[in-house]
Amino acid sequence: MKHFVLIASLMATGSALATDGDAILEQRCAGCHALSGPAAQSVPELWKRKGPDLFYAGSKYKDNWLEKWLVKPRRIRPAGYHYVQHIKPGKKRDMVDMSTLTPHPVLSAEDAEDVAEALMKRKAPADLITKGDFKGGSISASFGEMVFSTFNGCMACHEIEPNFGGLSGPEVYTAAKRMQEDYLVSYIRNPQAWNPKTPMPNKHTAEQNIQKIVRYLQALAKENWDEKK
Ligand code: HEC
Ligand code: HEC
Repeated sequence: MKHFVLIASLMATGSALATDGDAILEQRCAGCHALSGPAAQSVPELWKRKGPDLFYAGSKYKDNWLEKWLVKPRRIRPAGYHYVQHIKPGKKRDMVDMSTLTPHPVLSAEDAEDVAEALMKRKAPADLITKGDFKGGSISASFGEMVFSTFNGCMACHEIEPNFGGLSGPEVYTAAKRMQEDYLVSYIRNPQAWNPKTPMPNKHTAEQNIQKIVRYLQALAKENWDEKK
């Protein structure tokens, strides 16, 4: 309650908003991102969202990644959030129409800290995520690639290193840097449980292969490709 009064009074005076993460989210982020659930239940509703849902951010992102990215956002989805809006026909295959992609808003370090803190408080419903779902362990990059690409066909839509892999989904070579492992397990197991209208298919990946894929994503993230770019 105290918190609400604070936000309300800040809004009334129109000053010092930048010190409150929730107020920044409402003012500068809500136009593109859903800050409260549920996920879109229809395709038109999904298309109204210009960026990924943030209402379960605290169960999805790694805190330190989130804060850094908000200060220095770099593209995660080569063809934007709704990739069909950014694809044009090319000579051999479809290409990303870069002119239709806009840079992400940037936050100051101070605002990013406040916003990351406010986002990390937004947790997913308990039935969607299980602490300790990812069992750990390691995998060789070559075997991991086989499980990811050959057995499960994930590379058709995801880049496993810059400029190598499909373009319609988010790059996965930074996935384990960006996201909590338990989230990755749950998401790969059933993407539609998180977002009923997501274009990411449920590949009905065997439970042991989900574990292997997340180990592989961890191995990829160690390469720090994003920092080399
Ligand atoms: C003009 C629309 C727009 C606004 C405003 C906007 N975003 Fe985004 N946001 C996007 C899009 C589009 C993406 C996907 C970017 C990508 O994949 O490269 C994104 C991605 C993100 C991501 C990474 C999500 C993920 O799972 O990949 C975070 C975190 C984020 N935004 C937070 C914020 C915050 C915090 C604000 C307010 C300060 C904000 N955004 C304002 C459009 C927007
Ligand atoms: C037909 C294309 C397609 C295939 C095949 C596919 N994905 Fe995806 N994937 C997507 C798209 C599109 C998204 C983004 C969905 C969204 O934001 O709603 C996504 C999201 C993800 C995410 C969340 C990433 C993030 O940054 O938020 C992970 C992890 C993932 N996919 C892993 C996999 C794995 C593992 C496989 C193979 C079992 C796979 N994908 C197969 C299209 C695909």
